[in-house]
Amino acid sequence: MSHAEDHQATRRDFLYYATAGAGAVTAGAAIWPLINQMNPSADVAALASIEVDVSGVSEGTQITVKWQGKPIFIRHRTAKEIDEGRAVKLSDLPDQKAENRNLPDNAPATDENRTADKDGKWLVMIGICTHLGCVPLGNNAGEFDGWFCPCHGSQYDTAGRIRKGPAPRNMDIPVNTFADAKTIKIG
Ligand code: FES
Repeated sequence: MSHAEDHQATRRDFLYYATAGAGAVTAGAAIWPLINQMNPSADVAALASIEVDVSGVSEGTQITVKWQGKPIFIRHRTAKEIDEGRAVKLSDLPDQKAENRNLPDNAPATDENRTADKDGKWLVMIGICTHLGCVPLGNNAGEFDGWFCPCHGSQYDTAGRIRKGPAPRNMDIPVNTFADAKTIKIG
């Protein structure tokens, strides 16, 4: 192959990849399992991250998706829930750490440090009670308008922070980010 041909081929490949990369979230997601089949821990790695379209999740509702075998709560919070979460003093919290994998270990459990976006509309957390692992009930359940674990009565607030009952910690926030305006990537 001459230098010119070589150059052309490279340029074509580049254009192909650039085009494929621009709008192809779905293609990217499909490619991952193929790559991961070459990896000894393919079963785990294939689920290392998921992308969730949240455009259909209206304010005041939530969905639960499965990630790495765990339920993940994605809640679109109302203004009231945001206000309630932000009004809580740190000193009133049994667990004053954010428990947010996107932040340093010692980040405080402010409402702002729990949510996925700056405005606090989106809360993404592992829906497992930190007491003994039940899945708490949501949709403004319990005394703090958040989640209630019926197993032994743990009560979580609108930011998923433990407020009352035997659970020792706030519900965990997994690594997550907005891949685009309507898509949350978890993991
Ligand atoms: S498992 Fe939730 S309170 Fe015990």
